[in-house]
Amino acid sequence: MRSETAQLIKLEDYKETPYVIENVSLVFKLQPEATEVISTLTLFRREGTETGAPLELDGDDLTLVSVAIDGAALAEEAYEASPEKLVVQTPPADTFKLEVVTRVNPTTNTKLEGLYLSQGIYCTQCEAEGFRRITYYYDRPDVLSVFTTRIEADKVTNPILLGNGNPQDAGDIEGTDRHFAVWHDPHPKPAYLFALVAGDLACTSEKYTTASGKPVDLNIYVEKGNEDRTDWSMDSLIRSMRWDEKVFGREYDLEVFNIVAVSAFNMGAMENKGLNIFNDKYILADSDTATDMDYEGIETVVAHEYFHNWTGNRITCREWFQLCLKEGLTVFRDQEFSSDERSRPVKRIADVIRLKSRQFPEDQGPLSHPVRPTEYKEINNFYTATVYDKGAELVRMIKTILGADGFRKGMDLYFERHDGDASTIEDFLKCFEDANQQDLSHFSLWYHQSGTPFVKANGSYDEAAKTYTLDLEQNTAATPGQDEKKPFFIPIRFGLVGPNGDDLAYTSVEGAHVDGDLLHLTEDKQTVVFHGIGSKPVPSLLREFSAPVKLESTLSREDQIFLMRHDIDPFNRWQATQTLMTELLIELTNGEEPAGKDAFIEALGHMAEDKNLDHAFRGFGLMLPSEQAIALEIGKDVDTDAIGDARDAFSKEIGKALYDTFKRIYDAMEMPATFSPDALSAGKRALKLRCLSYLGAAQTEESAVLTKAHFDNADNMTDRMGALTVLVIWQLAGAQDALKAFEARHKDTALAMDKWLSIAARAPSEDAIAAIRTLTEHPAFSWDNPNRIYALIGGFLGGNTRGFHAADGSGYDYLAEITLQLDKTNPQVASRMAKSFGTWKNMNAERRVKAEAALKRILAADQQLSTDVKEIVELCLD
Ligand code: PHE
Ligand code: ZN
Repeated sequence: MRSETAQLIKLEDYKETPYVIENVSLVFKLQPEATEVISTLTLFRREGTETGAPLELDGDDLTLVSVAIDGAALAEEAYEASPEKLVVQTPPADTFKLEVVTRVNPTTNTKLEGLYLSQGIYCTQCEAEGFRRITYYYDRPDVLSVFTTRIEADKVTNPILLGNGNPQDAGDIEGTDRHFAVWHDPHPKPAYLFALVAGDLACTSEKYTTASGKPVDLNIYVEKGNEDRTDWSMDSLIRSMRWDEKVFGREYDLEVFNIVAVSAFNMGAMENKGLNIFNDKYILADSDTATDMDYEGIETVVAHEYFHNWTGNRITCREWFQLCLKEGLTVFRDQEFSSDERSRPVKRIADVIRLKSRQFPEDQGPLSHPVRPTEYKEINNFYTATVYDKGAELVRMIKTILGADGFRKGMDLYFERHDGDASTIEDFLKCFEDANQQDLSHFSLWYHQSGTPFVKANGSYDEAAKTYTLDLEQNTAATPGQDEKKPFFIPIRFGLVGPNGDDLAYTSVEGAHVDGDLLHLTEDKQTVVFHGIGSKPVPSLLREFSAPVKLESTLSREDQIFLMRHDIDPFNRWQATQTLMTELLIELTNGEEPAGKDAFIEALGHMAEDKNLDHAFRGFGLMLPSEQAIALEIGKDVDTDAIGDARDAFSKEIGKALYDTFKRIYDAMEMPATFSPDALSAGKRALKLRCLSYLGAAQTEESAVLTKAHFDNADNMTDRMGALTVLVIWQLAGAQDALKAFEARHKDTALAMDKWLSIAARAPSEDAIAAIRTLTEHPAFSWDNPNRIYALIGGFLGGNTRGFHAADGSGYDYLAEITLQLDKTNPQVASRMAKSFGTWKNMNAERRVKAEAALKRILAADQQLSTDVKEIVELCLD
């Protein structure tokens, strides 16, 4: 939305609508440039609304054709219409039918919200406030209604017509070359879950029978020519449906479940009732064009959207402040699904890496907000890592605190009590309290108080008394709008690791609620004493990453190396490795020579070859923290060049020191004869490529040849892309040839070329911006498609730290320029890019001056900014 006076929306202002919409009947006469939408709403006055109170419906960029009530056109003075609003001053009765005709232009809809065309396919995107770009409506999640949709379109160009719910009718429109389809959705839903699709699509189908024996038709629709790339998404869908029956007791509730993949889509995918619409990146896969990470992403997103059917659709949100009610919970569910389908510890590590790289920076900068915010200007800006990923961590903590059975009881009660409701976080938490007779009021602070808590732990052993004392402290820095912080309820899973690697038992404990291996840290400071500890332990804290906090441990490097080798919790073995790497990298960044570096490298070599560990786990263990992660850890006066230099040098040093180890692992890895995306094979590829990247970092002649051969011989995208990345990042001989070969092979596959763009965007360069500008001219790039922008521009902002944070400010200037440019066509994408400014305050003075100037230039530009971009820039400058 564009407006000069973006108003602050506040949770405390929530009010029910004066009228209730019982029924919605929509007719779409699809035409590329002038689609007519006839909406018939059955409305009644809500109890408590005074008779004749005005009916005010939302619109956005709408052209009104006509408006009538109960069959009679409204006189001009009886209503007020603008592109943003339709107000009927005095509705004539308590119950009435409002018939509104609007006209919209799908062709010029570059925002990709509302009804638009993607590659000749009509599709809609209504979350959060896109339905108002189709017709006037109470476009808010607490207005639930039963929808019937009739779609009319040209038969030849749009043979497939899809809507929400079940198909009801279809046929030709006599005397024309058009046809129609009618879809009816019996489940009342908010408008943000509305969808329609029309186009010439290919389809793959399967039959599914629910646990109680109901048949469901599963269909995946894609652009023609892509139908042989849907096997994995269909497989993922079927596994998701089974899993939700088994683990949460949730069955599907319509006769059909349709998925459509489109190439122009702002987000990942959308859970419209019975008609999920996907960014094609999360549907299409084959071994030649998709990486193992893509396969995993597809599995996750397909599951996520499917799981929304219960957590989001059957039970939706009262208003958008409750977004985490559906998103945090559904992310938790998709994470659990993937953990069950794959390796749980490996999945946990991947999720924590994601949280720390996306949510922690958000929560430690100007864009920090609570998981359940209380105000916003533009809701599109709040589809954040905090709402999604931290939101999922909060659900996970509830499960940790209540245990698996208590958690399931709470979920069962939630489904039972709130099915059909537009709910709140309070409703949700109440179910866990009621089902378990537990008070979660202290815990609920996690939803309202923003910021990442820092937890400090200091232990000491008293040999004579056989006690181990743990001094724990928590502290959360001020965040925008929240200066004073109360202590959180932090569940800490832990073990006291004895000299032989086993956890030591304690006889009694004082100073905190401790239950088995779970400790509740509830105060600012707590001293916890464990009795009956026979020998000096090494504490392993925050096992499984039991709370989204930053743990500052005072363990010595020897103790960290000990945990890295011996902790029974695989997550903390990985964490110990990361903690050590981060400490060493910071010292290297500061120009120091870290103590214990050689011992660490040696331990890393042991871990790499430890046959008792998962391949994927070992791959993760070898991964150095990213430059951004190191920058966040340093926290202030960051010099990204110094970080980049230190990280490159350390990679090289590890590569050289463990060259033979990596070569041995690389050579010995047995790979299956034909490609399979399963977790074991994927883990082997990941470990092998991780070894290759260290060999590449060593920059020997042999490693260049090996990497080029790996690229040339690759029979799948994971290996091809992995090797290409190593060649380009370490500027090995053959890099340019490989880039050309990749391009020649994949030039016609946009999703594959996205990978090429993102690797090219990360290439070390004297003039990174010039390189990016050149890439924007490449035929594979387009400013009109979000995926291309995320690949190239997103790849640069997120993957080329030196380039984006260049000391001369060229990266910041460029981001300001493209934010302004993109804001003219697609504000959502523009604001997502602009969020990369979110860490500017952590930079050193030289860079801060440049970033601030760039941000101010956006505000001062001679163009009307969207609320999306304006809000982000203002928050960054605040
Ligand atoms: N609700 C979608 C999801 O999480 C995300 C989305 C938001 C998609 C807004 C489009 C627009 O699954
Ligand atoms: Zn979601």
